[in-house]
Amino acid sequence: MLQSAMLARKLGHSRISCIEFGVAGGAGLVAMERHAEATRAETGVEVVVFGFDTGKGMPAPEDYRDMPYLWQAGYFAMDVPKLRARLKSARLVLGDVTETLRNFAEQENPPPIGFIAFDLDYYSSTVAALKIFETNHRYLLPRVACYFDDMVGDIDWAYNDFTGELLAVKEFNAQHKDIKIAPVSGLRFSNRRIPQIWHEQIFVAHLFTHPDYGKPISELTQLPLGAD
Ligand SMILES: C[S@@+](CC[C@H](N)C(=O)[O-])C[C@H]1O[C@@H](n2cnc3c(N)ncnc32)[C@H](O)[C@@H]1O
Repeated sequence: MLQSAMLARKLGHSRISCIEFGVAGGAGLVAMERHAEATRAETGVEVVVFGFDTGKGMPAPEDYRDMPYLWQAGYFAMDVPKLRARLKSARLVLGDVTETLRNFAEQENPPPIGFIAFDLDYYSSTVAALKIFETNHRYLLPRVACYFDDMVGDIDWAYNDFTGELLAVKEFNAQHKDIKIAPVSGLRFSNRRIPQIWHEQIFVAHLFTHPDYGKPISELTQLPLGAD
């Protein structure tokens, strides 16, 4: 979220949107609200947070690609009144994401989306949520930071390229010539970071035909040769 706010500022935006797909009890959304405040204090960029969920827990799995050995209908039901009472500014969008995303941008007119946490668990739900990248460019930053929750786990979870979120991303990339969702190569070593699991869960959606995709953001323009 912080990185996307910094990118937005370099591109001349004063507001961004951040989304959580899959809210459940709301712990993640409440954390995103907190980070939104910290991000605004740090960058001056206002962050509008949206949370998408059925409000009733997981729908029924469609087939083996939804990994029904991990998730079933009704898991992670939300206590809607309790969460609404707790939220300060985040907006809840309730219903199946296949429906609620259809006219989301046109209806809500959100500031450009800069960060998305994908935590819908299922392949089928993630396929639906990834359609967010097909909305008009004015609702998106040219590079959108993404967190995918269900890509890294132990042998019994067995995340793989043929089911779940990993398959949804793989298929999305195969179907979109001008949009690619890619891991950030070397993220775990950047700024002397110690490798952490979340480094494997961060991707960037590249919108190659976005009018701002090539707009310079680097402050580095010279590399002078120093004295001997
Ligand atoms: C693992 S939970 C999310 C946990 C949450 N991110 C957190 O940090 O506490 C997955 C959520 O995705 C939601 N979900 C799955 N498929 C969905 C769909 N097609 N439309 C809307 N919500 C969906 C479920 O209702 C469930 O609450």
